[in-house]
Amino acid sequence: MPAVAIPLSSAGHELDTSSAAFGFIRSSADCAGDFAELNRRLADDGYLYIPGFFDPALILAGRKSITDRLAAEGSLDPAYPSIEAVENPGRKFSFRGDLARNNAAIHRVVYGPELLGFYAKLFGEDVRHFDYTWFRAVSRGMGTTPHCDLVYMGRGTHQLLTCWIPYGDIPLEMGGVMLLEDSHQKSDRLKNYLEVDVDAYCENRPKEVEKVVNQLGWSHPGHLSKNPATLRAKLGGRWLTCPDYKAGDFVTFGMTIVHGGLDNQTDRFRFSSDTRYQRASQPVDERWVGENPPANTRAGKRGRVC
Ligand SMILES: [Fe+2]
Repeated sequence: MPAVAIPLSSAGHELDTSSAAFGFIRSSADCAGDFAELNRRLADDGYLYIPGFFDPALILAGRKSITDRLAAEGSLDPAYPSIEAVENPGRKFSFRGDLARNNAAIHRVVYGPELLGFYAKLFGEDVRHFDYTWFRAVSRGMGTTPHCDLVYMGRGTHQLLTCWIPYGDIPLEMGGVMLLEDSHQKSDRLKNYLEVDVDAYCENRPKEVEKVVNQLGWSHPGHLSKNPATLRAKLGGRWLTCPDYKAGDFVTFGMTIVHGGLDNQTDRFRFSSDTRYQRASQPVDERWVGENPPANTRAGKRGRVC
């Protein structure tokens, strides 16, 4: 593995980038059409990294749709071409789901025939996707804390895959998704965490009702840890990322692998979507489907007596 020339951090914590603690994700470009092998790798590694999957023109059209919106709202530095996505200092974002709403160029990428065809072959049957589209415009800093997706979307099948797609080239100093090696094989150790449903609450605890139902908060913060460095030391494995994500790449992974985002060390926004795919025959988490998915609104909250 090439040495990492710059310090890297996530959620504000510097990572140990020695070869024992950090590495790069395995490319499956060599077997992108061999779905038996892809399924083996998905089971073994917990993820698939497919570089060069999309026509970059599709991805860049998606990027332009985003930078046009950010420019219109004044979030970009007007001294630079908007496609470069240089931040207007003072505009700090991380999650911007609104940027993907009513956005045909993004929907063309995430729900287009290329990706749905890929998942149909991977699952070996008809697939459906969640209708909610997660989108991130990540400012300097602002890396996502380590978590498993299951705690946010575990009410349907757990055989659900996330697809993370970068909209533009992402050098290491800009960050991107990182996965904790072999953490998908440690579900026994993470059992208590993996049973969390952030939208569930205890009906008999007035404080929880107030927070979750009335203020539309979560009963659990969602993350597994605020500190990716100490979490890795505790759970083992290496933090894995890509030294140079390109427009056209994607990474897909399951519900129980621990992942997060590296901090962005540049003044340009880092754009990515994360969307979900499953077998059409299996139950779906109703929070994330329909023309106007309930998401984390009151309709998505679920009470129980604790
Ligand atoms: Fe996630």
